[in-house]
Amino acid sequence: MDSNRTPAPRRGRSFDLTCFEEKHLNNEMNKFTFSKINESKDSKRATCEKGRATVVFSLKNEVGGLLKALKLFQENHINLVHIESRKSKRRNSEFEIFVDCDSNHEQLNEIIQLLRKHVNVVDMDPLDNSCLPEEDTDSVPWFPKKISDLDKCANRVLMYGSDLDADHPGFKDNVYRKRRKYFADLAMSYRHGDPIPRIEFTEEEVKTWGVVYRELTKLYPTHACREYLQNLPLLSKYCDCREDNIPQLEDVSRFLRERTGFTIRPVAGYLSPRDFLAGLAFRVFHCTQYVRHSSEPLYTPEPDTCHELLGHVPLLAEPSFAQFSQEIGLASLGASDDSIQKLATCYFFTVEFGLCKQEGKLRAYGAGLLSSVSELKHALSGNSKIMPFDPKVTCKQECIITTFQDIYFVSDSFEEAKVKMREFAKTIKRPFTVRYNPYTQSVDVLRDTASIHSVVEELRHELDILGDALSRLNKQLGV
Ligand SMILES: [Fe+2]
Repeated sequence: MDSNRTPAPRRGRSFDLTCFEEKHLNNEMNKFTFSKINESKDSKRATCEKGRATVVFSLKNEVGGLLKALKLFQENHINLVHIESRKSKRRNSEFEIFVDCDSNHEQLNEIIQLLRKHVNVVDMDPLDNSCLPEEDTDSVPWFPKKISDLDKCANRVLMYGSDLDADHPGFKDNVYRKRRKYFADLAMSYRHGDPIPRIEFTEEEVKTWGVVYRELTKLYPTHACREYLQNLPLLSKYCDCREDNIPQLEDVSRFLRERTGFTIRPVAGYLSPRDFLAGLAFRVFHCTQYVRHSSEPLYTPEPDTCHELLGHVPLLAEPSFAQFSQEIGLASLGASDDSIQKLATCYFFTVEFGLCKQEGKLRAYGAGLLSSVSELKHALSGNSKIMPFDPKVTCKQECIITTFQDIYFVSDSFEEAKVKMREFAKTIKRPFTVRYNPYTQSVDVLRDTASIHSVVEELRHELDILGDALSRLNKQLGV
Protein backbone atom coordinates (compact mmCIF):
# COMPACT_ATOMS: atom_id res chain seq x y z
CA MET A 1 0.00 0.00 0.00
CA ASP A 2 1.33 3.39 -0.88
CA SER A 3 1.74 5.48 2.24
CA ASN A 4 0.12 8.67 1.02
CA ARG A 5 -3.13 7.05 -0.01
CA THR A 6 -5.99 6.89 2.37
CA PRO A 7 -6.31 3.27 3.46
CA ALA A 8 -9.70 1.68 2.94
CA PRO A 9 -11.72 1.25 6.11
CA ARG A 10 -11.71 -2.35 7.28
CA ARG A 11 -15.18 -3.73 7.59
CA GLY A 12 -16.24 -5.06 10.91
CA ARG A 13 -13.51 -3.48 13.02
CA SER A 14 -14.85 -2.89 16.47
CA PHE A 15 -14.13 -2.92 20.19
CA ASP A 16 -11.37 -0.52 21.18
CA LEU A 17 -9.75 -0.55 17.74
CA THR A 18 -11.47 1.99 15.55
CA CYS A 19 -11.40 1.87 11.77
CA PHE A 20 -8.95 4.03 10.01
CA GLU A 21 -11.67 6.18 8.56
CA GLU A 22 -11.46 9.34 6.59
CA LYS A 23 -12.69 11.39 9.51
CA HIS A 24 -9.43 10.66 11.27
CA LEU A 25 -7.48 12.09 8.36
CA ASN A 26 -9.58 15.19 8.65
CA ASN A 27 -8.87 15.47 12.31
CA GLU A 28 -6.55 18.25 13.11
CA MET A 29 -3.42 16.55 14.18
CA ASN A 30 0.02 18.04 13.93
CA LYS A 31 1.84 18.41 17.18
CA PHE A 32 3.97 15.52 18.22
CA THR A 33 5.91 14.46 21.25
CA PHE A 34 8.19 11.53 22.04
CA SER A 35 7.72 9.03 24.79
CA LYS A 36 9.39 5.63 24.52
CA ILE A 37 10.73 3.14 22.08
CA ASN A 38 11.46 -0.53 22.45
CA GLU A 39 14.68 -1.23 20.63
CA SER A 40 15.42 -4.71 19.33
CA LYS A 41 17.81 -6.71 21.49
CA ASP A 42 19.20 -8.58 18.53
CA SER A 43 22.18 -6.63 17.27
CA LYS A 44 23.55 -9.43 15.11
CA ARG A 45 20.85 -9.51 12.48
CA ALA A 46 21.49 -8.47 8.93
CA THR A 47 20.63 -4.85 8.28
CA CYS A 48 19.51 -5.33 4.69
CA GLU A 49 17.07 -8.17 5.34
CA LYS A 50 13.45 -7.08 4.95
CA GLY A 51 10.86 -7.98 7.52
CA ARG A 52 7.50 -6.97 8.91
CA ALA A 53 7.65 -4.32 11.62
CA THR A 54 5.04 -2.59 13.69
CA VAL A 55 5.26 1.02 14.80
CA VAL A 56 2.74 2.68 17.06
CA PHE A 57 2.79 6.44 17.43
CA SER A 58 0.41 8.98 18.83
CA LEU A 59 -0.77 12.25 17.36
CA LYS A 60 -2.36 15.29 18.85
CA ASN A 61 -5.65 16.31 17.39
CA GLU A 62 -4.26 18.91 14.97
CA VAL A 63 -4.44 19.49 11.22
CA GLY A 64 -2.08 17.66 8.87
CA GLY A 65 -0.14 15.68 11.46
CA LEU A 66 -0.97 12.26 10.19
CA LEU A 67 -0.21 13.21 6.62
CA LYS A 68 3.23 14.45 7.67
CA ALA A 69 3.96 11.29 9.57
CA LEU A 70 2.87 9.02 6.74
CA LYS A 71 4.89 11.03 4.28
CA LEU A 72 8.03 10.12 6.21
CA PHE A 73 7.34 6.48 5.41
CA GLN A 74 6.83 7.28 1.75
CA GLU A 75 10.01 9.33 1.50
CA ASN A 76 11.96 6.48 2.98
CA HIS A 77 10.42 3.97 0.53
CA ILE A 78 8.78 2.01 3.30
CA ASN A 79 5.68 0.13 2.23
CA LEU A 80 2.79 0.28 4.65
CA VAL A 81 0.79 -2.92 4.68
CA HIS A 82 -1.70 -2.17 7.41
CA ILE A 83 -2.77 0.88 9.33
CA GLU A 84 -5.28 1.49 12.09
CA SER A 85 -6.10 4.20 14.56
CA ARG A 86 -7.63 4.27 17.98
CA LYS A 87 -8.25 6.85 20.66
CA SER A 88 -5.24 6.97 22.97
CA LYS A 89 -5.77 5.36 26.35
CA ARG A 90 -2.89 7.41 27.72
CA ARG A 91 -4.03 10.88 26.68
CA ASN A 92 -7.59 11.75 25.88
CA SER A 93 -6.67 14.40 23.33
CA GLU A 94 -4.52 12.04 21.23
CA PHE A 95 -4.97 9.30 18.69
CA GLU A 96 -2.68 6.32 18.36
CA ILE A 97 -1.72 5.16 14.91
CA PHE A 98 -0.74 1.53 14.49
CA VAL A 99 1.31 0.85 11.36
CA ASP A 100 2.55 -2.46 9.94
CA CYS A 101 5.27 -1.97 7.36
CA ASP A 102 7.81 -3.88 5.31
CA SER A 103 11.29 -2.58 5.91
CA ASN A 104 14.88 -3.58 6.59
CA HIS A 105 16.56 -2.59 9.82
CA GLU A 106 18.38 0.35 8.36
CA GLN A 107 15.13 1.80 7.01
CA LEU A 108 13.35 1.07 10.25
CA ASN A 109 15.99 2.77 12.37
CA GLU A 110 15.92 5.75 10.07
CA ILE A 111 12.16 6.12 10.12
CA ILE A 112 12.09 5.79 13.90
CA GLN A 113 14.70 8.55 14.22
CA LEU A 114 12.68 10.77 11.90
CA LEU A 115 9.41 9.99 13.64
CA ARG A 116 10.94 10.75 17.01
CA LYS A 117 11.53 14.31 15.88
CA HIS A 118 7.85 14.77 15.15
CA VAL A 119 5.66 12.27 16.90
CA ASN A 120 5.21 10.46 20.13
CA VAL A 121 6.45 6.95 19.30
CA VAL A 122 4.56 4.76 21.71
CA ASP A 123 5.98 1.42 20.72
CA MET A 124 8.01 -0.28 18.06
CA ASP A 125 8.13 -3.96 17.37
CA PRO A 126 10.63 -5.11 14.76
CA LEU A 127 8.94 -8.29 13.66
CA ASP A 128 12.02 -9.83 12.20
CA ASN A 129 12.00 -12.83 14.46
CA SER A 130 13.78 -11.34 17.43
CA CYS A 131 13.74 -14.15 19.92
CA LEU A 132 14.57 -15.12 23.45
CA PRO A 133 18.21 -16.11 23.91
CA GLU A 134 18.76 -19.85 23.46
CA GLU A 135 20.24 -20.13 26.95
CA ASP A 136 16.84 -19.13 28.40
CA THR A 137 15.18 -22.17 26.87
CA ASP A 138 18.03 -24.72 27.14
CA SER A 139 17.04 -25.79 30.64
CA VAL A 140 13.35 -26.31 29.77
CA PRO A 141 12.24 -29.94 30.23
CA TRP A 142 11.21 -31.75 27.05
CA PHE A 143 7.53 -31.56 26.22
CA PRO A 144 5.39 -32.77 23.30
CA LYS A 145 5.01 -30.17 20.54
CA LYS A 146 2.52 -32.11 18.44
CA ILE A 147 -0.19 -34.57 19.29
CA SER A 148 1.71 -37.59 17.92
CA ASP A 149 4.56 -36.74 20.32
CA LEU A 150 2.32 -38.17 23.03
CA ASP A 151 3.46 -41.58 21.74
CA LYS A 152 6.80 -40.76 23.38
CA CYS A 153 5.42 -40.19 26.86
CA ALA A 154 2.08 -42.02 27.16
CA ASN A 155 3.69 -45.33 28.11
CA ARG A 156 5.78 -44.08 31.01
CA VAL A 157 3.41 -45.65 33.51
CA LEU A 158 4.33 -45.07 37.14
CA MET A 159 2.18 -47.59 38.97
CA TYR A 160 0.37 -50.80 38.30
CA GLY A 161 0.09 -51.48 34.60
CA SER A 162 0.15 -55.27 34.82
CA ASP A 163 1.76 -55.44 38.28
CA LEU A 164 -0.38 -54.92 41.35
CA ASP A 165 0.59 -53.90 44.87
CA ALA A 166 0.18 -56.42 47.66
CA ASP A 167 -2.80 -54.52 49.10
CA HIS A 168 -4.62 -54.34 45.77
CA PRO A 169 -7.95 -56.26 45.88
CA GLY A 170 -6.87 -58.27 42.82
CA PHE A 171 -3.33 -59.06 44.00
CA LYS A 172 -4.01 -62.73 44.69
CA ASP A 173 -6.31 -63.27 41.73
CA ASN A 174 -4.25 -64.71 38.88
CA VAL A 175 -7.11 -64.54 36.40
CA TYR A 176 -7.56 -60.84 37.17
CA ARG A 177 -3.82 -60.20 36.89
CA LYS A 178 -3.73 -61.92 33.52
CA ARG A 179 -6.65 -59.76 32.38
CA ARG A 180 -4.85 -56.64 33.57
CA LYS A 181 -1.79 -57.64 31.55
CA TYR A 182 -4.03 -57.90 28.48
CA PHE A 183 -5.26 -54.31 29.01
CA ALA A 184 -1.75 -53.05 29.76
CA ASP A 185 -0.40 -54.59 26.53
CA LEU A 186 -3.20 -53.04 24.49
CA ALA A 187 -2.47 -49.58 25.91
CA MET A 188 1.29 -49.96 25.52
CA SER A 189 1.02 -50.82 21.83
CA TYR A 190 -1.42 -47.99 21.08
CA ARG A 191 -0.13 -45.23 18.79
CA HIS A 192 -1.67 -41.87 17.97
CA GLY A 193 -4.24 -42.24 15.18
CA ASP A 194 -5.01 -45.89 15.88
CA PRO A 195 -8.63 -46.77 16.63
CA ILE A 196 -8.94 -47.71 20.30
CA PRO A 197 -9.33 -51.50 20.47
CA ARG A 198 -12.88 -52.60 21.26
CA ILE A 199 -13.13 -54.79 24.33
CA GLU A 200 -15.33 -57.76 24.86
CA PHE A 201 -15.96 -57.25 28.56
CA THR A 202 -16.54 -60.37 30.64
CA GLU A 203 -19.81 -60.99 32.44
CA GLU A 204 -18.01 -60.36 35.73
CA GLU A 205 -16.66 -57.01 34.53
CA VAL A 206 -20.08 -55.88 33.32
CA LYS A 207 -21.59 -56.94 36.65
CA THR A 208 -18.99 -54.92 38.59
CA TRP A 209 -19.61 -51.92 36.35
CA GLY A 210 -23.36 -52.36 36.87
CA VAL A 211 -23.04 -52.12 40.66
CA VAL A 212 -20.98 -48.94 40.41
CA TYR A 213 -23.35 -47.45 37.82
CA ARG A 214 -26.49 -48.26 39.82
CA GLU A 215 -25.22 -46.90 43.13
CA LEU A 216 -23.77 -43.72 41.67
CA THR A 217 -26.73 -42.82 39.48
CA LYS A 218 -28.90 -42.86 42.61
CA LEU A 219 -26.76 -40.05 44.04
CA TYR A 220 -26.22 -37.91 40.96
CA PRO A 221 -29.55 -35.98 40.95
CA THR A 222 -28.77 -34.54 44.40
CA HIS A 223 -24.96 -34.53 44.32
CA ALA A 224 -23.70 -33.87 40.78
CA CYS A 225 -23.39 -30.43 39.21
CA ARG A 226 -25.82 -29.22 36.56
CA GLU A 227 -23.43 -29.70 33.63
CA TYR A 228 -22.76 -33.27 34.63
CA LEU A 229 -26.46 -34.06 34.81
CA GLN A 230 -27.01 -32.53 31.39
CA ASN A 231 -24.24 -34.52 29.74
CA LEU A 232 -24.65 -37.94 31.33
CA PRO A 233 -27.75 -38.80 29.25
CA LEU A 234 -25.75 -37.96 26.11
CA LEU A 235 -23.24 -40.61 27.07
CA SER A 236 -26.09 -43.10 27.20
CA LYS A 237 -27.52 -41.89 23.93
CA TYR A 238 -24.34 -41.79 21.86
CA CYS A 239 -22.09 -44.33 23.57
CA ASP A 240 -24.57 -46.91 24.80
CA CYS A 241 -23.68 -46.23 28.43
CA ARG A 242 -26.06 -48.41 30.47
CA GLU A 243 -26.07 -50.35 33.68
CA ASP A 244 -25.61 -53.55 31.66
CA ASN A 245 -23.15 -52.19 29.10
CA ILE A 246 -19.71 -50.64 29.47
CA PRO A 247 -19.16 -48.04 26.72
CA GLN A 248 -16.27 -48.57 24.33
CA LEU A 249 -13.52 -45.95 24.57
CA GLU A 250 -13.46 -45.57 20.79
CA ASP A 251 -17.15 -44.54 20.80
CA VAL A 252 -16.57 -42.22 23.75
CA SER A 253 -13.60 -40.63 22.01
CA ARG A 254 -15.67 -39.96 18.88
CA PHE A 255 -18.48 -38.52 21.01
CA LEU A 256 -16.13 -36.17 22.87
CA ARG A 257 -14.39 -35.06 19.68
CA GLU A 258 -17.71 -33.84 18.35
CA ARG A 259 -18.60 -32.06 21.59
CA THR A 260 -15.38 -30.38 22.66
CA GLY A 261 -12.51 -31.68 20.54
CA PHE A 262 -11.26 -33.90 23.36
CA THR A 263 -10.15 -37.40 22.42
CA ILE A 264 -9.35 -40.45 24.50
CA ARG A 265 -6.05 -42.26 24.56
CA PRO A 266 -5.84 -45.63 26.37
CA VAL A 267 -3.24 -45.86 29.12
CA ALA A 268 -1.97 -48.79 31.16
CA GLY A 269 -2.04 -47.07 34.57
CA TYR A 270 -0.87 -43.95 36.41
CA LEU A 271 1.20 -41.55 34.37
CA SER A 272 3.51 -38.99 35.92
CA PRO A 273 1.72 -35.67 36.49
CA ARG A 274 3.90 -34.09 33.80
CA ASP A 275 2.96 -36.67 31.16
CA PHE A 276 -0.71 -36.72 32.12
CA LEU A 277 -1.07 -32.93 32.07
CA ALA A 278 0.78 -32.77 28.74
CA GLY A 279 -2.04 -34.81 27.18
CA LEU A 280 -4.61 -32.25 28.33
CA ALA A 281 -2.74 -29.53 26.43
CA PHE A 282 -3.73 -31.38 23.23
CA ARG A 283 -7.23 -32.12 24.49
CA VAL A 284 -6.22 -35.73 24.91
CA PHE A 285 -7.47 -37.54 27.97
CA HIS A 286 -5.56 -40.64 29.04
CA CYS A 287 -8.06 -43.30 30.07
CA THR A 288 -7.65 -46.68 31.66
CA GLN A 289 -9.70 -49.42 30.04
CA TYR A 290 -9.70 -52.15 32.69
CA VAL A 291 -12.40 -52.67 35.32
CA ARG A 292 -11.70 -52.70 39.07
CA HIS A 293 -11.63 -56.04 40.92
CA SER A 294 -15.07 -57.60 41.41
CA SER A 295 -14.50 -58.27 45.13
CA GLU A 296 -14.86 -54.57 45.94
CA PRO A 297 -17.04 -52.87 43.31
CA LEU A 298 -17.32 -49.66 45.30
CA TYR A 299 -13.61 -49.30 45.97
CA THR A 300 -10.57 -48.97 43.76
CA PRO A 301 -7.08 -47.83 44.75
CA GLU A 302 -6.42 -46.61 41.20
CA PRO A 303 -8.35 -45.12 38.28
CA ASP A 304 -10.31 -47.68 36.27
CA THR A 305 -12.73 -47.42 33.38
CA CYS A 306 -15.69 -46.84 35.78
CA HIS A 307 -13.86 -43.80 37.17
CA GLU A 308 -12.96 -42.49 33.71
CA LEU A 309 -16.37 -43.03 32.12
CA LEU A 310 -18.64 -42.01 34.97
CA GLY A 311 -16.30 -39.53 36.62
CA HIS A 312 -14.55 -37.69 33.81
CA VAL A 313 -16.31 -38.14 30.49
CA PRO A 314 -19.61 -36.27 31.10
CA LEU A 315 -17.71 -33.09 32.00
CA LEU A 316 -15.13 -33.43 29.24
CA ALA A 317 -18.16 -33.05 26.98
CA GLU A 318 -18.74 -29.59 28.47
CA PRO A 319 -16.98 -26.81 26.49
CA SER A 320 -16.09 -24.58 29.46
CA PHE A 321 -14.74 -27.52 31.45
CA ALA A 322 -12.79 -28.80 28.45
CA GLN A 323 -11.20 -25.38 28.08
CA PHE A 324 -10.36 -25.29 31.79
CA SER A 325 -8.71 -28.72 31.56
CA GLN A 326 -6.71 -27.78 28.48
CA GLU A 327 -5.45 -24.58 30.07
CA ILE A 328 -3.96 -26.52 32.99
CA GLY A 329 -2.31 -28.78 30.42
CA LEU A 330 -0.89 -25.91 28.40
CA ALA A 331 0.47 -24.25 31.54
CA SER A 332 2.35 -27.45 32.36
CA LEU A 333 4.34 -27.70 29.11
CA GLY A 334 7.99 -27.02 29.81
CA ALA A 335 7.28 -26.02 33.42
CA SER A 336 9.71 -26.82 36.24
CA ASP A 337 9.13 -29.85 38.48
CA ASP A 338 7.99 -27.53 41.25
CA SER A 339 5.44 -25.82 38.99
CA ILE A 340 4.20 -29.19 37.71
CA GLN A 341 3.61 -30.24 41.29
CA LYS A 342 1.55 -27.12 41.94
CA LEU A 343 -0.47 -27.50 38.74
CA ALA A 344 -1.08 -31.20 39.41
CA THR A 345 -2.33 -30.34 42.90
CA CYS A 346 -4.72 -27.75 41.48
CA TYR A 347 -5.85 -30.32 38.93
CA PHE A 348 -6.40 -32.84 41.73
CA PHE A 349 -8.57 -30.49 43.80
CA THR A 350 -10.61 -29.34 40.82
CA VAL A 351 -10.90 -31.94 38.04
CA GLU A 352 -10.71 -34.83 40.52
CA PHE A 353 -12.22 -33.46 43.74
CA GLY A 354 -13.74 -30.11 42.86
CA LEU A 355 -17.01 -28.76 44.21
CA CYS A 356 -19.11 -25.90 42.93
CA LYS A 357 -22.07 -23.93 44.18
CA GLN A 358 -25.27 -24.01 42.14
CA GLU A 359 -28.55 -22.46 43.21
CA GLY A 360 -27.05 -22.01 46.66
CA LYS A 361 -26.21 -25.71 47.02
CA LEU A 362 -22.91 -27.54 46.92
CA ARG A 363 -22.49 -29.87 43.97
CA ALA A 364 -19.64 -32.11 42.86
CA TYR A 365 -17.83 -31.81 39.54
CA GLY A 366 -14.63 -33.68 40.43
CA ALA A 367 -14.34 -37.15 38.85
CA GLY A 368 -12.85 -38.67 42.00
CA LEU A 369 -16.05 -37.73 43.81
CA LEU A 370 -18.46 -38.56 41.01
CA SER A 371 -17.06 -42.08 40.78
CA SER A 372 -16.95 -42.83 44.52
CA VAL A 373 -20.21 -43.44 46.37
CA SER A 374 -18.73 -43.02 49.84
CA GLU A 375 -16.60 -39.94 49.17
CA LEU A 376 -19.36 -38.24 47.17
CA LYS A 377 -21.68 -38.60 50.18
CA HIS A 378 -18.94 -37.49 52.57
CA ALA A 379 -17.92 -34.38 50.58
CA LEU A 380 -21.50 -33.05 50.54
CA SER A 381 -22.49 -34.29 54.00
CA GLY A 382 -21.93 -30.92 55.66
CA ASN A 383 -19.19 -32.46 57.79
CA SER A 384 -16.32 -31.97 55.38
CA LYS A 385 -14.02 -28.94 55.40
CA ILE A 386 -14.61 -26.68 52.43
CA MET A 387 -12.68 -23.65 51.24
CA PRO A 388 -12.93 -21.38 48.19
CA PHE A 389 -10.73 -22.51 45.32
CA ASP A 390 -7.67 -20.31 45.17
CA PRO A 391 -4.77 -21.81 43.20
CA LYS A 392 -2.18 -20.04 45.40
CA VAL A 393 -3.62 -21.79 48.47
CA THR A 394 -4.90 -24.97 46.84
CA CYS A 395 -1.51 -25.80 45.29
CA LYS A 396 -0.05 -26.28 48.77
CA GLN A 397 -2.71 -28.72 49.97
CA GLU A 398 -1.77 -32.37 50.46
CA CYS A 399 -3.42 -34.79 47.99
CA ILE A 400 -4.68 -37.94 49.67
CA ILE A 401 -5.06 -41.09 47.58
CA THR A 402 -5.92 -43.78 50.12
CA THR A 403 -8.78 -42.13 52.02
CA PHE A 404 -11.07 -39.05 51.89
CA GLN A 405 -9.55 -35.60 51.36
CA ASP A 406 -9.03 -33.41 54.43
CA ILE A 407 -10.46 -30.49 52.54
CA TYR A 408 -12.39 -29.74 49.35
CA PHE A 409 -12.26 -26.57 47.29
CA VAL A 410 -15.33 -24.89 45.91
CA SER A 411 -15.68 -22.64 42.83
CA ASP A 412 -18.70 -20.66 41.69
CA SER A 413 -18.30 -21.98 38.15
CA PHE A 414 -15.79 -23.49 35.73
CA GLU A 415 -15.51 -20.03 34.29
CA GLU A 416 -14.39 -18.65 37.64
CA ALA A 417 -11.98 -21.55 38.18
CA LYS A 418 -10.58 -20.99 34.69
CA VAL A 419 -9.94 -17.30 35.27
CA LYS A 420 -8.18 -18.06 38.55
CA MET A 421 -6.09 -20.81 36.97
CA ARG A 422 -5.21 -18.52 34.07
CA GLU A 423 -3.89 -15.89 36.46
CA PHE A 424 -2.01 -18.53 38.40
CA ALA A 425 -0.48 -19.93 35.21
CA LYS A 426 1.01 -16.51 34.49
CA THR A 427 3.04 -16.75 37.69
CA ILE A 428 4.69 -19.97 36.52
CA LYS A 429 8.26 -19.33 35.51
CA ARG A 430 8.79 -20.26 31.89
CA PRO A 431 10.76 -18.31 29.28
CA PHE A 432 7.97 -18.50 26.71
CA THR A 433 4.23 -18.83 26.27
CA VAL A 434 2.53 -21.62 24.38
CA ARG A 435 -0.62 -21.62 22.32
CA TYR A 436 -2.52 -24.61 20.97
CA ASN A 437 -3.01 -24.69 17.24
CA PRO A 438 -6.13 -26.78 16.60
CA TYR A 439 -5.54 -26.92 12.83
CA THR A 440 -2.25 -28.77 13.20
CA GLN A 441 -2.96 -30.23 16.64
CA SER A 442 0.33 -28.83 17.76
CA VAL A 443 1.63 -26.35 20.26
CA ASP A 444 3.05 -23.07 19.03
CA VAL A 445 5.88 -21.91 21.25
CA LEU A 446 5.65 -18.14 21.34
CA ARG A 447 9.22 -17.13 21.97
CA ASP A 448 9.96 -14.87 19.02
CA THR A 449 8.30 -11.97 17.29
CA ALA A 450 7.50 -13.97 14.13
CA SER A 451 5.42 -16.51 16.06
CA ILE A 452 3.69 -13.74 18.01
CA HIS A 453 2.99 -11.90 14.79
CA SER A 454 1.32 -14.90 13.21
CA VAL A 455 -1.00 -15.16 16.22
CA VAL A 456 -1.81 -11.47 15.88
CA GLU A 457 -2.76 -12.06 12.23
CA GLU A 458 -5.04 -14.93 13.21
CA LEU A 459 -6.67 -12.82 15.91
CA ARG A 460 -7.25 -10.02 13.43
CA HIS A 461 -9.02 -12.46 11.19
CA GLU A 462 -11.13 -13.72 14.11
CA LEU A 463 -12.03 -10.14 15.03
CA ASP A 464 -13.05 -9.48 11.44
CA ILE A 465 -15.38 -12.48 11.59
CA LEU A 466 -16.83 -11.21 14.86
CA GLY A 467 -17.21 -7.70 13.49
CA ASP A 468 -18.96 -9.07 10.42
CA ALA A 469 -21.30 -11.17 12.56
CA LEU A 470 -22.13 -8.18 14.75
CA SER A 471 -22.76 -5.91 11.82
CA ARG A 472 -25.09 -8.49 10.20
CA LEU A 473 -26.90 -8.85 13.51
CA ASN A 474 -27.19 -5.10 13.86
CA LYS A 475 -28.66 -4.91 10.35
CA GLN A 476 -31.21 -7.58 11.17
CA LEU A 477 -32.15 -5.82 14.37
CA GLY A 478 -32.27 -2.50 12.57
CA VAL A 479 -29.65 -0.95 14.83
FE1 LIG B 1 -9.21 -39.22 37.31
